[in-house]
Amino acid sequence: MADLSLATLVAGKPVKLEKAGRTICVTRVGDEVFAIDDTCSHSDASLSEGEVTDFKIECWLHGAEFDLRTGEALTPPAVAPIKIYPVIVDGDSVTVEA
Ligand code: FES
Repeated sequence: MADLSLATLVAGKPVKLEKAGRTICVTRVGDEVFAIDDTCSHSDASLSEGEVTDFKIECWLHGAEFDLRTGEALTPPAVAPIKIYPVIVDGDSVTVEA
Protein backbone atom coordinates (compact mmCIF):
# COMPACT_ATOMS: atom_id res chain seq x y z
CA MET A 1 0.00 0.00 0.00
CA ALA A 2 1.57 3.24 -1.14
CA ASP A 3 1.82 6.18 1.23
CA LEU A 4 1.63 8.83 -1.48
CA SER A 5 1.13 9.23 -5.21
CA LEU A 6 4.11 10.58 -7.12
CA ALA A 7 1.77 12.63 -9.31
CA THR A 8 0.46 14.55 -6.31
CA LEU A 9 3.94 15.41 -5.00
CA VAL A 10 5.00 18.77 -6.33
CA ALA A 11 8.76 19.20 -6.63
CA GLY A 12 10.09 21.43 -3.88
CA LYS A 13 6.83 21.35 -1.88
CA PRO A 14 7.34 19.04 1.11
CA VAL A 15 4.40 17.16 2.60
CA LYS A 16 3.95 15.81 6.10
CA LEU A 17 3.29 12.09 6.43
CA GLU A 18 2.19 10.30 9.61
CA LYS A 19 3.40 6.72 9.58
CA ALA A 20 4.26 4.14 12.22
CA GLY A 21 3.91 6.73 14.97
CA ARG A 22 6.39 9.05 13.29
CA THR A 23 5.93 12.37 11.57
CA ILE A 24 7.92 12.41 8.36
CA CYS A 25 8.70 15.15 5.86
CA VAL A 26 8.49 13.84 2.28
CA THR A 27 10.00 15.91 -0.50
CA ARG A 28 10.16 15.39 -4.23
CA VAL A 29 13.22 16.69 -6.07
CA GLY A 30 12.94 16.05 -9.80
CA ASP A 31 11.83 12.43 -10.04
CA GLU A 32 13.46 11.46 -6.76
CA VAL A 33 11.67 11.44 -3.40
CA PHE A 34 13.32 11.87 0.00
CA ALA A 35 11.97 11.29 3.48
CA ILE A 36 13.37 12.73 6.72
CA ASP A 37 12.01 13.18 10.22
CA ASP A 38 9.71 16.18 10.23
CA THR A 39 11.01 17.70 13.44
CA CYS A 40 14.09 19.90 13.19
CA SER A 41 17.06 18.66 15.23
CA HIS A 42 17.54 22.16 16.68
CA SER A 43 14.12 22.70 18.25
CA ASP A 44 10.48 21.86 17.75
CA ALA A 45 9.75 23.06 14.22
CA SER A 46 8.13 21.22 11.35
CA LEU A 47 10.54 20.90 8.44
CA SER A 48 7.73 20.22 5.99
CA GLU A 49 6.92 23.92 6.34
CA GLY A 50 10.45 24.78 5.28
CA GLU A 51 11.87 25.86 1.98
CA VAL A 52 13.56 23.49 -0.47
CA THR A 53 16.50 24.45 -2.67
CA ASP A 54 18.08 21.69 -4.74
CA PHE A 55 18.69 18.86 -2.24
CA LYS A 56 18.50 21.12 0.82
CA ILE A 57 15.63 21.95 3.11
CA GLU A 58 15.73 25.04 5.29
CA CYS A 59 14.01 25.12 8.67
CA TRP A 60 11.56 28.05 8.73
CA LEU A 61 12.21 28.80 12.41
CA HIS A 62 15.93 29.64 12.64
CA GLY A 63 17.17 28.86 9.16
CA ALA A 64 19.23 25.68 9.65
CA GLU A 65 19.65 23.72 6.43
CA PHE A 66 19.68 19.95 6.07
CA ASP A 67 20.67 17.68 3.21
CA LEU A 68 17.56 15.75 2.15
CA ARG A 69 19.70 12.85 0.92
CA THR A 70 21.75 12.30 4.07
CA GLY A 71 19.93 14.17 6.85
CA GLU A 72 23.18 15.99 7.60
CA ALA A 73 22.91 19.43 9.23
CA LEU A 74 24.62 21.79 6.80
CA THR A 75 24.29 25.14 8.54
CA PRO A 76 23.85 26.32 12.14
CA PRO A 77 22.08 26.59 14.49
CA ALA A 78 21.37 22.87 13.99
CA VAL A 79 24.31 20.52 14.43
CA ALA A 80 22.70 17.10 14.83
CA PRO A 81 21.64 15.18 11.75
CA ILE A 82 18.05 14.22 11.04
CA LYS A 83 16.95 10.63 10.58
CA ILE A 84 16.30 9.68 6.98
CA TYR A 85 14.04 6.92 5.67
CA PRO A 86 14.35 4.83 2.53
CA VAL A 87 11.75 5.67 -0.11
CA ILE A 88 10.55 3.28 -2.77
CA VAL A 89 9.07 4.79 -5.92
CA ASP A 90 7.29 2.26 -8.11
CA GLY A 91 5.47 3.91 -10.97
CA ASP A 92 3.15 6.36 -9.25
CA SER A 93 3.40 4.67 -5.85
CA VAL A 94 5.61 6.27 -3.21
CA THR A 95 6.29 4.21 -0.11
CA VAL A 96 8.32 5.41 2.86
CA GLU A 97 9.96 2.62 4.84
CA ALA A 98 9.33 3.87 8.36
S1 FES B 1 14.12 24.90 15.07
FE1 FES B 1 15.01 24.49 13.15
S2 FES B 1 16.69 25.81 13.09
FE2 FES B 1 15.86 26.16 15.02
